[in-house]
Amino acid sequence: MGHHKILTGARLATMVTGDDYGLIENGALVLSGDRIAWVGPAPELPAHFDGPVRDLAGRLVTPGLIDAHTHIVFAGDRAREFEMRLGGASYAEIARAGGGILSTVTATRAATPDALVAQALPRVDALLAEGITTLEIKSGYGLEAATELDMLRAARRIGAERPVRIRTTYLGAHAIPPEYAGRADAYLDEICLPTLRAARAEGLVDAVDGFCESIAFSPDQIARVFETAAALNLPVKLHAEQLSNLGGAALAAGFGALSADHLEYLDAPGVLAMARAGTVAMLLPGAFYTLNETRKPPVDLLRQNNVPIALATDCNPGSSPLTSLLLAMNMGCTLFGLTPAEALHATTTNAARALGLADAGTLAAGQRADLAIWDVTHPAELAYRIGFNPLHQRIFAGHPC
Ligand code: NIG
Ligand code: FE
Repeated sequence: MGHHKILTGARLATMVTGDDYGLIENGALVLSGDRIAWVGPAPELPAHFDGPVRDLAGRLVTPGLIDAHTHIVFAGDRAREFEMRLGGASYAEIARAGGGILSTVTATRAATPDALVAQALPRVDALLAEGITTLEIKSGYGLEAATELDMLRAARRIGAERPVRIRTTYLGAHAIPPEYAGRADAYLDEICLPTLRAARAEGLVDAVDGFCESIAFSPDQIARVFETAAALNLPVKLHAEQLSNLGGAALAAGFGALSADHLEYLDAPGVLAMARAGTVAMLLPGAFYTLNETRKPPVDLLRQNNVPIALATDCNPGSSPLTSLLLAMNMGCTLFGLTPAEALHATTTNAARALGLADAGTLAAGQRADLAIWDVTHPAELAYRIGFNPLHQRIFAGHPC
């Protein structure tokens, strides 16, 4: 009758156990439509499942990977700033001189909606080729109503043009645009908050983010953004403690944030606040690496307090021009000291949690049938190799692609 698709001969990294891979040798998976119907050891496969059987010849199956922090919709590039940083200028100096995020704002405002999608798709395709099945995309390079909305619409269009689940995040509080220089509160009142309401009304927003830093918005200003998000019933997250410690992670935790992101300068009170709120620590080693940061996020303290750790590419043209989540996992291990099992949880279970998704990130009955099939024998190989892509195939919503 073919109601089901049966995959056998697989090694399954189910990720259902908190601290290891939840490995099943000689496993089987049953897919029913866009869901997983059954997971377990092949000898225990119930006889009542019917449908085509596919032998995976010992390949590894993981949940589809989740890149839960990207700025992948933008126009232009910042290669010139890369040269300037190598010449000695810092990220913050370039930003204060009107470069940085604002140079991408200029390029993004000038791009057509079609160009925004067209420029993002090759980057998206690079991620999909590595087994990503869920992708978060932020706005934040418009900083005016029309372009912020165009960025979010471009993100939604990517989800229509490619087999991937998109979660959008409104990041109107990313930088202060030149026309509001020195008037951050006026920017919030006149542009950022009204545009959030408009984007919400158009169904374009799944979560709200901000950049809490001396070169961006103060904790009080971020609190105003989060109050508006709460009034609109939207979850929040925050770029916090990336370049300095302003207490952003604790602020975000106080609003029940899904995640606090970057966190190199996170302190113990911030960790405790995140632990109490269940806020995920989203580590972004691509930005750490690109900015030649030496201060590491407090991984041991996060572990001791059971704060879930996620990893993402932070794909953006300035601080992290990275389109490899596998490389982010490798960096998470080598630069931050995560174990390969923590790195895989960081891009599956904990990344799902950072997006508020309960139906992704594990191989279990009832979960979405979003899988990655790999030509590797042990899951530690995913974080171990550098610059090699061992993906055999993605399965998205039950369909091989
Ligand atoms: O996550 N920290 C702020 N936002 C981005 C950088 C964006 C940019 O430089 O264009 C980040 O690092
Ligand atoms: Fe970011």
